[in-house]
Amino acid sequence: FPSGEGIILSPACPMTAIVDTAGRTAHFPPRFFSGNRAAVGGGAQAVLLAGGHATFRYDTDVESVFRQESNFWYLTGVDYPNCFLWLSPPESGECVLFVPESPASMVHEVYEGAVPPHEYFRDLSGVERIRPVSQLESFVQEQAELCAPAAGQAAFIHTTGACRSHLPTSLDPFIVDPEEDDTLARELQVLRQCKQLCELAEMKAVNKISSHAHDELMRALRPGRFEYELESVFRHSCMLQGCKEMAYLPIVGSGENAAVLHYTANRRKVQDGDLLLVDAGAERCMYAADITRTSPANGKFTPEQRSIYEIVQEAQESVIAGMCIDENMNKLGEMASTVVLHGLHRLGILRGELSRLHEVNVISRFLPHAIGHHLGLNVHDEVGFPTLLAEGHTVTVEPGCYFYPGLMKELHLQRFSGLVDFGVLERYVGVGGIRLEDNIAVGASGIENLTSAVKRPEEVEAMVGSLW
Ligand code: GLY
Ligand code: MN
Ligand code: MN
Repeated sequence: FPSGEGIILSPACPMTAIVDTAGRTAHFPPRFFSGNRAAVGGGAQAVLLAGGHATFRYDTDVESVFRQESNFWYLTGVDYPNCFLWLSPPESGECVLFVPESPASMVHEVYEGAVPPHEYFRDLSGVERIRPVSQLESFVQEQAELCAPAAGQAAFIHTTGACRSHLPTSLDPFIVDPEEDDTLARELQVLRQCKQLCELAEMKAVNKISSHAHDELMRALRPGRFEYELESVFRHSCMLQGCKEMAYLPIVGSGENAAVLHYTANRRKVQDGDLLLVDAGAERCMYAADITRTSPANGKFTPEQRSIYEIVQEAQESVIAGMCIDENMNKLGEMASTVVLHGLHRLGILRGELSRLHEVNVISRFLPHAIGHHLGLNVHDEVGFPTLLAEGHTVTVEPGCYFYPGLMKELHLQRFSGLVDFGVLERYVGVGGIRLEDNIAVGASGIENLTSAVKRPEEVEAMVGSLW
């Protein structure tokens, strides 16, 4: 700490560590993974997936953090690098997990550790047939002789884009190009979007831990702190609650940085009068939280900051109130944009007929992103946003309002002529950006908001700086 003092976290931390140290997948029984494997394969003839690979920093021997590829984990529970999964065509239902052999020499083993025994992989995944990776290519060649004639074509193995480049090149003739045929990726996406109970339990837990960490960060916030110091509070709190990794790089943006949607440099010193936007979530047993809170660095919103905050809060509350099974999320997103548009009109930043403001889509200059996305093993857990909500979906609701300089300049475009009061706007640009993001689970009898970090403006003001 430049100031020489540390940030002490709340001694009365309300959570107890939940994750045991046995591994990320401790809470998931093998039947979860075997059930997922059985559900795959509707349109596929055969499936070959490469798990995540161990990587190093550029041309060095410095290890990067290993994170299993999400589909591979969903089908195996294996959190170990350089493995492969084979699923035969549905009628035979054969499944083989290929795992690395022990390091080439004791010197390697001393650095990397021994590869776990086959029983370890069997117990995690429920896959009976475990084979060394060295047998992968000959195994697939044999399968090609057995399966390909029935399929009537050389390429009969489905894979996903992430796996494609990690498969041995000798197998190229048998692989269906996932860019031309993404049946498997879509099938996995649909399966993963409907959460099972054990998945929901993880998502609730990681949201609770991440919500608490947001509160802890707010308590430690005051002008003069660097953004990365506040990031460290968030990370520290999550780690103390058993989450070693973040679901994505934390976004800790003060002042103008709050308007940069994926700002992750986190190097600026927070100034008196700034808002601080924090978009951060931990990962627990592979599942993500994705939460955003915005708070005044000195503990008191200016009238301008508070007005925008309340508009964003109203937009979020209206969307959440409208969520239910079969509801159209695109429609709810439009509703959020309308709430923000009307709010800016009420404040006098926008002027003229509301219908004209809608027609020229001026709100896209203040709210340039979608209302949310699926959340699960990946923070953006989807190919496309769910149009219709269904039981088991877990999605974010994250309206915002930003004063990003480049987009503010565009308000001078001819199409917006006469619709913006630049004098009034000038008073608000210092707000920077405000986003509020909660994670919602959709159930048969209603929705549940998994996020509990403080949000009401008075609560936020009371929380900020309360550590000091
Ligand atoms: N954290 C990125 C997002 O909210 O989508
Ligand atoms: Mn999000
Ligand atoms: Mn987010």
